Amino acid sequence: MTDFVLRQFSFPADYAEAFALWQNAGEGIGISPSDQLDEIEKKCQRDPELFLVAEQGGRIVGTVIGGFDGRRGMIYHLAVDPECRRQGLANRLMDEVELRLRQKGCRKAYLLVKKGNQVARLFYEARDWAGMDFVDLFGKNLV
Ligand SMILES: CC(C)(COP(=O)(O)OP(=O)(O)OC[C@H]1O[C@@H](n2cnc3c(N)ncnc32)[C@H](O)[C@@H]1OP(=O)(O)O)[C@@H](O)C(=O)NCCC(=O)NCCS
Repeated sequence: MTDFVLRQFSFPADYAEAFALWQNAGEGIGISPSDQLDEIEKKCQRDPELFLVAEQGGRIVGTVIGGFDGRRGMIYHLAVDPECRRQGLANRLMDEVELRLRQKGCRKAYLLVKKGNQVARLFYEARDWAGMDFVDLFGKNLV
């Protein structure tokens, strides 16, 4: 793999590129109001060291957003530029965010995979993440 650098997301300098990457990542990434600039700023004020980008030649080609609430971790927006896939980049992003979660004392983390996203399913299963068919996922909009 050539010259990829992993580093913390820098707000607001990296925002436009990261957002464009999510928009171009395909159906696996759902863009929501939580991806607006002010919401990302809110996220960066909480767990900045868990929001990582992969850079190549000064261009952002991968992202992952981790979160830790003191009990469980969450992973969002793992995305790799389509031209840079199958080079181990997502594995490197996940290795790093899992390490950082562990260092914060996180014992277990969750992530959401859209139904039918077989590539993501295969990717996570290869990393020992397991589907949790014994629970139903509930959500509620609070604003
Ligand atoms: C899922 C995604 C992040 C993987 O990124 P990547 O950098 O290509 O992944 P890696 O190169 O680190 O792949 C590691 C392993 O995952 C599995 N894998 C990755 N892509 C795969 C594919 N298209 N088909 C089958 N297995 C795949 C393989 O086991 C692979 O190891 P190998 O290349 O030695 O066979 C990328 O495809 C992507 O951005 N998809 C769109 C966004 C998305 O769906 N994100 C997940 C949100 S839940």
